[in-house]
Amino acid sequence: MRGLQLADKQLQFFGGSWTEQKLHMLEEYLKAYVKVLKNQRFQCVYIDAFAGTGYREMNSPSLEEGFFAKELTESEPQEFFDGSARIALRTKPSFSKYIFIERSSKRFEELLKLKTEFVSLADRIVFDKNDCNSVLQDLCRGWDSFRMRGVLFLDPFGMQVEWSTLEAVARTQAIDVWILFPLGVSVNRMLPKDGQVPDAWRERLCRTFGASDWYERFYRSSTVQGFFDTETRLVKIGSFNAIADYYLERLRSIFAGVAENPRVLLNSRNNPLFLLCFAVGNPSLKAKETALKIAQHILAKG
Ligand SMILES: C[S@@+](CC[C@H](N)C(=O)[O-])C[C@H]1O[C@@H](n2cnc3c(N)ncnc32)[C@H](O)[C@@H]1O
Repeated sequence: MRGLQLADKQLQFFGGSWTEQKLHMLEEYLKAYVKVLKNQRFQCVYIDAFAGTGYREMNSPSLEEGFFAKELTESEPQEFFDGSARIALRTKPSFSKYIFIERSSKRFEELLKLKTEFVSLADRIVFDKNDCNSVLQDLCRGWDSFRMRGVLFLDPFGMQVEWSTLEAVARTQAIDVWILFPLGVSVNRMLPKDGQVPDAWRERLCRTFGASDWYERFYRSSTVQGFFDTETRLVKIGSFNAIADYYLERLRSIFAGVAENPRVLLNSRNNPLFLLCFAVGNPSLKAKETALKIAQHILAKG
């Protein structure tokens, strides 16, 4: 149902071509994933932790949902396209199970309609209207890595993904993850040039990175000559590249493998919004190399 016209709805559209890019890359990976696992004994689970409505449209996100999230709303023609949940449901062969998590009541109501639209898959779909961090942590605790393999899509507005959630996912050694890391949309903006990071932001950054050494990585003391005296000032050295490198390093510390070529998603003014990263859970050489090869190919192609 691509391009359905719903002119009567007053909705703001979410994202521009970067949204298409991320969904296209997800779609390509899901297609390859189900093909590779088709004749294996595993139960394959698709987990969409920020499922939205099933369509690509979004109401304007509030600041509570993502710091500086206004940056994300760019007007597009009033058309509705498939969102990640619908993309997963139309991937063939089908997954054994779909877990759709969405915290907003309004979007959740809309999401539930997927059951009537995809009737043949209805009994494989589980909906959950709670915070995805707690849902994912519970799910990973009960994950049967002998029988189950999964793909997780983490598509937040901002910094909603807790590091402890990624740790739980990595521990299963059975889930591959596509992560939209909020590089420009939140993280870079929470690192002011003068190094005066408010406590609430520091705490949020620590929960995102799962570490506190980011401060030393992104700031350096520098001595400058004043009119009468020298003075020591903090200088931000955390460029977009440095932030991206640091996050990849953090991912490598917990996952079996991480794609080397994450994709920077830019807005229409060429400002980085997100870094689309891929991490693989399974440490077995064959599984890891296959997943990375596919993901890296998709990331390179765009
Ligand atoms: C960028 S949108 C997702 C778009 C969706 N993946 C798609 O392709 O259409 C992020 C969604 O996550 C939801 N959300 C935000 N924080 C959440 C949380 N902690 N747990 C679950 N859902 C959350 C928002 O309500 C919003 O619908």
